[in-house]
Amino acid sequence: GIDISKLRAEAGAITFDDGFGNTGACASAITFIDGEAGILRYRGYPIEQLAAHSSFVETAYLVINGELPTIEQRRDFGRLLTQNAPLREGLLRFIQNFPRDSHPMAVLSATMNALGAYYPHLASNNHQRDLTHFDEAAAIAISKVRTIAAHTFRVNRGQPFNYPRPNFGYCENFLHLMFSEPYNEYIPTAEVASALNLFLLLHADHEQNCSTSTVRMVASAGANLFASISAGVNALWGPLHGGANMAVIEMLQQIHDSGDDGTKFLESAKAGKGARLMGFGHRVYKHYDPRAKIIKESFYKALASLGIKNDPLLDIAMKLESVALSDDYFVSRKLYPNVDFYSGLIMRAIGIPLNMFTVMFAIGRMPGWIAQWREVAQTPKLKIHRPRQIYVGQTQRDYLPMEQRG
Ligand code: ACO
Repeated sequence: GIDISKLRAEAGAITFDDGFGNTGACASAITFIDGEAGILRYRGYPIEQLAAHSSFVETAYLVINGELPTIEQRRDFGRLLTQNAPLREGLLRFIQNFPRDSHPMAVLSATMNALGAYYPHLASNNHQRDLTHFDEAAAIAISKVRTIAAHTFRVNRGQPFNYPRPNFGYCENFLHLMFSEPYNEYIPTAEVASALNLFLLLHADHEQNCSTSTVRMVASAGANLFASISAGVNALWGPLHGGANMAVIEMLQQIHDSGDDGTKFLESAKAGKGARLMGFGHRVYKHYDPRAKIIKESFYKALASLGIKNDPLLDIAMKLESVALSDDYFVSRKLYPNVDFYSGLIMRAIGIPLNMFTVMFAIGRMPGWIAQWREVAQTPKLKIHRPRQIYVGQTQRDYLPMEQRG
């Protein structure tokens, strides 16, 4: 186990670390990143091996429980997910009652939190240390996030809900919930289901990013799993965090609408005049984002299977990529494509609307948030997370009656 007392004893004095860029706020055994070398591992397993051999559901089990499941464990986990896919009547009405143009992240955050009201035995804050029902709560979060997302999509379009199919896999079920119509069930091709599977798997965890740190912060106060995850969803909603994949598509669309092939855009990005090249660069990876390499390959397979041959945005993206990768400006600054450069294009090809891209990220990140919440809940003698500050406000002064002000 992690020896928190030893870590505390070895820690130094309070420092000012703007944006926590150099602060180790916790000890964690879940995800390892080496940004210089472009390495990402979940529980020690290289992301490339998981992408090649595992599935999102198996990887979710691994991230949460620390080990790959045995046949029985995988079967039981799958059963729990299937049982927990549908939403209770009250939650269906809750989603239905949001205005039709509600942002899906607002609905997701509210509904995740509302799960605590519907499953009070899993959400009593006093039970934070009591992990007896943890498996059930985790399965509810992973399974229902997909149902909530798809139902929100249907409500936004004024379409009836679809009900989860017990015989479908995780990704097939999500696509069915989204796109099946009465008398016309959506059956995705294997390539499309596997592109979605890969997208989710690659997002399963990414150590102490903004939303995950938020989940841990809220959990440190003893809050239940659903409340903590709901806070994480809100952090992810911020455009600097979960919104980059959307920004890539918006950038490509603008380049296309302006009649440029990407050349002019790159020149202005380099000159620091226009927008940055979205989907390039990363705070931690100063090498190729390992997830970007993996997703790019499956992307072409999914496109071929969907019969998409000439998407003008794709042509622009490929042009931007090839020029940037051999341009001294990007090379010298170690700016490589990140996962978002391709993930938006994949979702667009599958038919996911732009305003749901961040929700897709949230579905993928669910195992990571759950695993990190559990790590906090299991920390012996846990301290509430409470950073300090450098006070820069007024020094002491005396109260002035209103008539003496101004
Ligand atoms: N396009 C053009 N120039 C860039 C880009 C870019 N995408 N990213 C960084 N630069 C330049 C900066 O202008 C700066 O140049 P300078 O040294 O001449 O001033 C230099 O590269 C370093 O940039 P910083 O902003 O200091 O790098 P930082 O590590 O803080 O930023 C970030 C990382 C925010 C991801 C940045 O690269 C960026 O804005 N990228 C585009 C947005 C994006 O794709 N975000 C997704 C991140 S991945 C994720 O969230 C899953």
